[in-house]
Amino acid sequence: MIADNAPALVTGGESGIGRACALALGKAGHPVVLTYYADAAAGAAVAGEIEAGGGRALAFRCDVGDERLVDLLFAQAESRFGLMRLLVNSAGLNMSGTALEDMALAQFDRVLRADLYGPFLTCRRFVRGLAGIAAAPGRTARGIGRVVNISSIHERAPRPGGLDYDAAKGGLAQLTTTLALELAPRGIAVNAVAPGMILTPMNQSALDHPDELKAKEAAIPWGRAGRPEEVADLVLFLLSDRADYITGSTVTIDGALSLTVAQGA
Ligand SMILES: NC(=O)c1ccc[n+]([C@@H]2O[C@H](COP(=O)([O-])OP(=O)(O)OC[C@H]3O[C@@H](n4cnc5c(N)ncnc54)[C@H](O)[C@@H]3O)[C@@H](O)[C@H]2O)c1
Repeated sequence: MIADNAPALVTGGESGIGRACALALGKAGHPVVLTYYADAAAGAAVAGEIEAGGGRALAFRCDVGDERLVDLLFAQAESRFGLMRLLVNSAGLNMSGTALEDMALAQFDRVLRADLYGPFLTCRRFVRGLAGIAAAPGRTARGIGRVVNISSIHERAPRPGGLDYDAAKGGLAQLTTTLALELAPRGIAVNAVAPGMILTPMNQSALDHPDELKAKEAAIPWGRAGRPEEVADLVLFLLSDRADYITGSTVTIDGALSLTVAQGA
């Protein structure tokens, strides 16, 4: 069983969905290690907000595509809070909007490193950390660790110009299911959440331009974009013992946007 105060690690915790997950975990009583990439002040601010609410939190810089830095991150996290029992992979880069013929290998590599290599490296180190702990026998709440990967509806729904991102998220979908199968006997659950349009800095242009936001929201059957806190609510459920029997699943949270594929012709 995963204790109510199980330590949690959140990548991309300085911004958007990762930030909302880190804050929600901290509020729920979990010691939280969050990573930032570009903005140290934002990382420190999230950790500070958790501490101001009576929780415990640390912020570390990490490029999730760098094997050495990921190993260092977990070593630092474990030395402060003990073994990480919960992992949220939220760090990621958006699509470049570049067509295949114009896309440099370095661009493709940059997105794959953040969006796919990152979860590979953090999941691997997370699982290695739990190697000495046996899954509890029995059929209820027997897990020893839980992972949620933040994927995207574009793991299935392709877009021209989205080759880098869509390929990375498609890979993340298979990484999630493969790991779920591989790690089930060890009591480690691995799930994904596939958001549609969520109002974070990844959608800064829509946040800055009301007309663009209105046009994009008109394409969403539910009539609006989502909030990062709504994604965090779902993530926290998937990290909890109440979700013990859920592993290998991707839960879509998109106001039915992904169901509109192939409509209208
Ligand atoms: N916002 C959306 O509409 C939306 C929709 C579907 C999926 N997602 C996914 O949700 C996740 C979070 O995105 P968000 O919307 O919060 O965007 P965001 O830009 O607010 O956050 C992304 C975070 O990832 C970090 N990051 C980028 N590259 C990194 C790297 N190499 N190493 C470590 N950190 C790195 C950034 O610094 C940032 O903190 C991403 O994986 C994204 O693909 C977002």
